Amino acid sequence: MSPVTEILHGETMARYLSNLSKIAVGRERVSLSTMVKYPRVVLGIETSCDDTGAAVVDENGTILGEALHCQKDIHLKSGGIIPTVAQQLHRDNINKVVDQAIHASGISPDELSAIATTVKPGLGLCLGVGLSYSLELVNKYHKPFIPIHHMEAHALTVRLLHPVEFPFLVLLISGGHCILAVVSGVSEFMMLGQSLDEAPGDTLDKVARRLSLINHPECSAMSGGEAIEHLALQGDRMICKLKIPMSHHRDCNFSFAGLRNQVNKVIEQKEAEEGICKGQLLTCVADIAAAVQHTVAHHLAQRTQRAIYFCKKEGLLPTERACLVASGGVASNRSIRRVLQTVTDKSDMTLLCPPPMLCTDNGVMIAWNGIEKLRTGVDVLHNVDGASYEPRASLGTDISKLVRKAAIKVPPIKI
Ligand code: KG4
Ligand code: ZN
Repeated sequence: MSPVTEILHGETMARYLSNLSKIAVGRERVSLSTMVKYPRVVLGIETSCDDTGAAVVDENGTILGEALHCQKDIHLKSGGIIPTVAQQLHRDNINKVVDQAIHASGISPDELSAIATTVKPGLGLCLGVGLSYSLELVNKYHKPFIPIHHMEAHALTVRLLHPVEFPFLVLLISGGHCILAVVSGVSEFMMLGQSLDEAPGDTLDKVARRLSLINHPECSAMSGGEAIEHLALQGDRMICKLKIPMSHHRDCNFSFAGLRNQVNKVIEQKEAEEGICKGQLLTCVADIAAAVQHTVAHHLAQRTQRAIYFCKKEGLLPTERACLVASGGVASNRSIRRVLQTVTDKSDMTLLCPPPMLCTDNGVMIAWNGIEKLRTGVDVLHNVDGASYEPRASLGTDISKLVRKAAIKVPPIKI
C-alpha cells in the first residue's frame, strides 16, 4: 500500500501533515528551483456538514495552522444530524476554530493571499454559517474570496501530499456522496457515475444506528463507518450473505438503499431468533458488520473496475502509471482500501489515499483547494456581491450515459 495511506498516531494533524508534506517535497515533489520563496498563503474554512474546520496552508503545501471542531458526539446521541443543531454548533464554534488556525500559523490575517470557503454542496443552514463568516473576514481584511466545491476539495487533497498529475481517476466516498470521476484539471471533472440513492457513509451510519452500536462498549464514540470497520475485524462475513447491488447493471452508478433493506431484514430475523428487541445488541453484530463492509467494498470495487476499463478504452487516463485516488470519509476504511488496491494492482495502476484525518472533512483540504485555484487563477473573486451557497451541486460534466452505453462487462472480482 502507498506510503500516503500510512498514518502515525499521537501527533497533531498540523505536525504530522507538515512533516509528511515536507518529506514528499524533499523526496520527489518540488525541486528547490520550483519551491516558492515567498509562498502565497490561503485560509480555508469548512462548515458544509458536521465539522467546523479551518486551516492556513501555503503554496508549497505546508500546513501552517489548523483547527477542527467535530460535532460527531452530539449527532451520535441524537441519532443523526439535525440541521438546525449543526448550524447552531457551527455558529458557536467558527470564530474559535478560525482564530486557533490563524494563531497556530503565526500569520496575521493581513498576510493572507485569499480566503477559501466551502459553498457547495452540503446542508444549506451549515454552508450559510461558513459563507457569512468568511465574507465578514473578506470585507474586513480586503482579501479575495475563493468559493470551494466540497467534493472537488476531497478529490484534490491528495496533491497536497503527493505529486499526482492530471488526469487521474477519483472515487469519492463519503456520508453524502459516492462518485467516480476523471479529474483533468483543478476544476475539470468528468463524472462517470454516482449513487442513485444514498451514499455509502450514510448507509454505514444507518446500519450502525439500527444495530445500536452506540451501546457497544468498544464503539460508543465512533462514527457509524468507524464502528463497522472496527467490529468487522472480529466478525465472520460468511454468516450472513448479502447480495452485491446492481451487479447486472453495466454502468458506474452505485446504489446502497437496497443493501440497507437487506441488512434490516437480516437484523429483524436475528432479533427474533435471539429474542431481543430493537435497541439491544445482537450477539452477531460483528458478523453483520463484516458482511456489510464486504458488500459495500465489493460494490465499490466492481464499479471502479468498470470505470478503469472505460477510461482505458476511451484513452482518458495516462497509458502508464495511471492513478486511482480514493477520498472522502469512507476512504479512511482500511478494508475498503485493500479491496481497491486489488483492483488497481490488476490494472497496473497506483492507488493513492490521503491519510484518514484528511479523508474526513477538515479545513486543510479547503485551504489547499484555494491554493490550487489561486495558482491557476480559477474562481478568485475580488468582488463578492452575489456570493451564495448551493446545497445541491453536481460535479463536472456528467458522462454517465456514455459509460452506460458502452456497457462494459467486467470479470468477477475475487476478494
Ligand atoms: O467526508 P466526510 O467526513 O463527510 C462528508 O462529506 O460526508 O465523511 C463522513 C462519513 C460518515 O458517514 C462516516 O461514517 C464515514 O465517513 N467514515 C467511515 C470511516 N470513517 C468515517 N466509513 C468507513 N470506515 C471508516 N473508517
Ligand atoms: Zn466530505
